[in-house]
Amino acid sequence: MDTENPRTITDALADDHRRLEDLRERAEDALRTGGRGEATSLFAEFDRGLRHHIRVEEELLFPALERESGLRREFGPIGVMIAEHRAIEGLLERLVREFSGEAAADGAPMGQLSAMLEAHDAKEEMVLYPMADRTIGAAERESIVAKIRTR
Ligand SMILES: [Fe+2]
Ligand SMILES: [Fe+2]
Repeated sequence: MDTENPRTITDALADDHRRLEDLRERAEDALRTGGRGEATSLFAEFDRGLRHHIRVEEELLFPALERESGLRREFGPIGVMIAEHRAIEGLLERLVREFSGEAAADGAPMGQLSAMLEAHDAKEEMVLYPMADRTIGAAERESIVAKIRTR
């Protein structure tokens, strides 16, 4: 498997999960050790990247999966993923206030986000992404992979 140049949806989006997790951990560490400027810029990169990732899933990946696999967003895993995205965005809003200094950082939203992303990412990587690789045609898969890497 070529991890330098991932071609499958599973490789590319799982790589993006790892990249975002690394940014999230670095932002959390910087905030804890008092590097406010560094924490703010790492968090901004994480926040922008995660919102982009969610947008690519909801605007490109899930519609293609619904069309090709017959899954419907009203039921089952796609609907669950979309509901979790809204919960993730709610936690991001709370974290924006913590990282800007507007709200005290008590670690609760970051802990919840970390746990939520771990479970969410695992479900996508084990179920939805492999299904996308099996059902979506090569050209459309490549355009989704290209989009996730355009940030
Ligand atoms: Fe997702
Ligand atoms: Fe994802």
